[in-house]
Amino acid sequence: MVKSLQGKSIILGITGGIAAYKAAALTSKLTQKGAKVHVIMTASAKQFITELTLQSLSKQRVFSDTFQERDPSSISHIDLADSADLVLIAPATANIIAKMAHGLADDMLSTTLLAVTAPIMVAPAMNVHMYQHPAVISNMDTLYKRGVQFIEPGEGQLACGYVGKGRLEEPETIVKVVENFFVRQQEKESGPLTGKKIVITAGGTVERIDPVRYISNDSSGKMGFALARAARAMGAEVTLIAARTDEAPPLDPAIHLVRVESAQDMYEAVMDRWTDCDIMVKAAAVADYRPRQSSESKIKKSGDTLTLELVKTTDILESLGKNKDKQFLIGFAAETGNAEFYARDKLIRKNLDLVVANDVTLEGAGFGTDTNIVKVYDIEGLVLDLPLASKDEVARQVLRLAADRVAGALL
Ligand code: CTP
Repeated sequence: MVKSLQGKSIILGITGGIAAYKAAALTSKLTQKGAKVHVIMTASAKQFITELTLQSLSKQRVFSDTFQERDPSSISHIDLADSADLVLIAPATANIIAKMAHGLADDMLSTTLLAVTAPIMVAPAMNVHMYQHPAVISNMDTLYKRGVQFIEPGEGQLACGYVGKGRLEEPETIVKVVENFFVRQQEKESGPLTGKKIVITAGGTVERIDPVRYISNDSSGKMGFALARAARAMGAEVTLIAARTDEAPPLDPAIHLVRVESAQDMYEAVMDRWTDCDIMVKAAAVADYRPRQSSESKIKKSGDTLTLELVKTTDILESLGKNKDKQFLIGFAAETGNAEFYARDKLIRKNLDLVVANDVTLEGAGFGTDTNIVKVYDIEGLVLDLPLASKDEVARQVLRLAADRVAGALL
C-alpha cells in the first residue's frame, strides 16, 4: 500500500510547552504515513519530552544543539534545511513565533528556520491570553504575510486552567493538514494549468475627481480573487492585477499582486504583461468614463450645481482582442437584464474566446456576494451553465474549461 507521505522529508520543530508531549503522537503518525521526520527540539522542549522518545518513534537522529556536529563532512542545520519538503512546528510557543518573525537565530531550530526554503507550517499552543496578546498577534501576522501557514489552536481546557483558544490542534488533524498540503502541492506541479502564465484582473477601478473624491463601482474583487486562487491551485503562474476591492487579496506568495487604481493604470499593467501571457481573465469592473480633469487640490463648494465632464476610458478588453496572438482571452459581462444578448455581443465585438455572463440583479449573483450565477458563451453559443454556486466553484469551472481549450489548441 502506498503511504500518503512516502518520500517526504519533514522537519518537526518542537518547542517548550506542555503540549510538547503531543509531538510524540505526531511524530509517530507522520512516520507511519511514510514521512522521514527529522525532529529538532529546543532546550525548553526537552524539559517536557525526551530526545530518546522522539528518536525511537522517528527512527532518526534528533537535533537540539547547533554545535554538536557529529559528521565533520556536513553542517547539520544547513543539510536539514536543504533536504526538507516541509517544516512543521508543533507545538509552537509565543517565543519561537517571535523569533521567527524577527529573524533571530540563537539555537538549532531558529537557525535552521532561517536556512529553510521549504514551506513552513506553525501549530501554536499557549495560554489564551498569550494567544491574544497584541505582540503575538502582530508576530503571527508578519509570518502569515510571509507565507507561513498556521494550524489554528483549538478551544478547550488549557493546562494553565483557563478555558479558551490556545490548545494545540490534535495530532490526527495536524497530520490531515500535512497530507492535504502535499496533495495540493502535487496538483500545482501537475495541474491542468501548470506552466501557463495567467493574468487576472479584479475589483473596480477608481477614477479621481480630486484627491478626496472619486467615481467607482460596486465590484468587490471576490470573483477575481477566487479566480486567482483557483488558477494557482491548478498550477498556473498567476499575476493578479487588482483595483479597489472590499477585502484583502489572497495571501499566497506565489500569486504576484499588482495594485492599480484607475482604468488607465490597469490598461498599462495589463499591456505590460500581454505578450507573455497565455490566458487573460478580465474580471475587473473597469470604468467606462473618467472625469476629463482630475483636480490636484480638493474642489471647494461654490455654485448650486457642479458639472463633471466625463471622457471615455480605453476599453482594455477590446484593445487586447485586437492584438490577440496565441493568448486565450476571457471577458466578463455583468448585466442587469438581457445578459445573453449583451454578453454575446461583447464576445464578438471584443474578439473573446469566452465570455462569462451574469445578471447582477439575481439573488446570489453579482457584486459583493460569495456566490454567483453565470452562463459562459463561446462563439458558437452556451458552453457552461452554472446555477447558484460559490465564486470559488465558478472560478474552478471556468478555468477548467479554459485549460481544456488551451490544451486542445496545442494538439
Ligand atoms: N472592460 C475593459 N475596459 C473597459 C471597460 C470594460 O477591459 N474600459 C472589460 C471588463 O473587464 C469586462 C468586459 O470588458 O471583462 C465587460 O465590461 P462591461 O463594462 O460590461 O462592458 P462594456 O463594453 O463597457 O459594455 P457596457 O458598459 O456598454 O455594458
